[in-house]
Amino acid sequence: MMRVLNLYFSSTGNTKKVADQIAATATSLGHQVDTIRATAHAEVDLLAYDLIFLGSGVYEWLPGKPLRTLCSRLRQKYVAQGEIKPGAPCRQDKIGVVYATYGGGHTGVNEAIPTGKYLGQILDHLGIPVMAEWYLVGEYHGKWRGFSAMGRLGDISGRPNDEDLRQVAEMVKGILQVQGPVVSR
Ligand SMILES: Cc1cc2nc3c(=O)[nH]c(=O)nc-3n(C[C@H](O)[C@H](O)[C@H](O)COP(=O)(O)O)c2cc1C
Repeated sequence: MMRVLNLYFSSTGNTKKVADQIAATATSLGHQVDTIRATAHAEVDLLAYDLIFLGSGVYEWLPGKPLRTLCSRLRQKYVAQGEIKPGAPCRQDKIGVVYATYGGGHTGVNEAIPTGKYLGQILDHLGIPVMAEWYLVGEYHGKWRGFSAMGRLGDISGRPNDEDLRQVAEMVKGILQVQGPVVSR
């Protein structure tokens, strides 16, 4: 059994659907999952987990502000504790997955890649290898709703849909099946 952190930020609900699917899949496979919706002041210890899922919606190419603030706080905390070291030596017993849900209305996945890279850095700085970056389409809500039918990705209304979430479940299973020091415990 792995200790799994499922940390995410969602403003309009798309990323929450993905996080809920991650939690359901990992739990059904017998792992202990802590799901936390990121706020700027959330108390979370990334180093207490074997596997970390870290995800956000994309807003102006970046993760949501509360999650960015949390990442900044965590970076400062781990520097002060000596857990972020020059060269970021690899922790053999931990792995991470980062993901973004995005609309891609203007430039497609290129709008989301900065979010994946941003989120990966807090793990990478701690020496936690990022096994995968997932970029998942998420429809626009609210006043941007019209973008869902006219952007570079075509009509993305209703995404992430059931098929998207089924694929998330398969990818979560794939990560949990990876052979290595974590799962051999
Ligand atoms: C205010 C706002 C800004 C957005 N900016 C971008 C953007 O820069 N690039 C992009 O690909 N999608 C953008 N989107 C679309 C969201 O990334 C997408 O709908 C995502 O799934 C939202 O996640 P959430 O529902 O978990 O908040 C934006 C949506 C909103 C509401």
